Amino acid sequence: MKFFLDTANLQDIRTGVEMGIVDGVTTNPTYIAREGRPMEEQIRAICDLVDGDISAEVVATIAPEMISEGRALARIHPNVVVKIPLIREGIKAVKALSSEGIRVNVTLCFTPTQALLAAKAGAYIISPFVGRLEDIGSNGMDVVRDIVKLYNLHGYPTKVLAASMRGPMHIFDAAMAGAHIATMPLKVLDMLFNHPLTDKGLAMFLADYQKAFQEATVG
Ligand code: E4P
Repeated sequence: MKFFLDTANLQDIRTGVEMGIVDGVTTNPTYIAREGRPMEEQIRAICDLVDGDISAEVVATIAPEMISEGRALARIHPNVVVKIPLIREGIKAVKALSSEGIRVNVTLCFTPTQALLAAKAGAYIISPFVGRLEDIGSNGMDVVRDIVKLYNLHGYPTKVLAASMRGPMHIFDAAMAGAHIATMPLKVLDMLFNHPLTDKGLAMFLADYQKAFQEATVG
């Protein structure tokens, strides 16, 4: 399963990239707005930091405008994946952009049947939002599981990207569900490292080693 960083913050991206396990980045209009730089500039800067798929989302909501915005985003860098919301006009845009060979990540997906629409329109990636479904008392991971099953059953090549990940168990469950990608904030990626027995074990190893060599030196 690929690990994407879910942010437009360059410092977080640099920190994640240094870990050596980041395969791509997902952004959305909220993340871009937080950084205060125009979309194109920020996406270009992210592409300079990460050699992998970088999702950049359109802000138009009418198909012809989504299509021209998508084309412009795709021109920024060959690694850009155009992100399109799962609305009626969006699916028209997905069909048009995919037919031109532009890779599309269909976002704001909350049901397996919505995911079918995206796959039929030729989406490269579908993004079900797990955390936001849980926020309203639904089982978000079941949606990921069902989409993976549906796509396998019908042979759709669309990749399943588990989005809106809030903690390590989401990452584990997404991997077990067969998601191809999980996108997560740096905070969640960092949490994956944590275990008290790892820290305790390392402290013991180092103390034993130090003690043995100190004693050998003294002796
Ligand atoms: C990813 O593509 C989404 O924009 C993101 O995962 C949303 O996450 P949130 O629900 O934590 O805002």
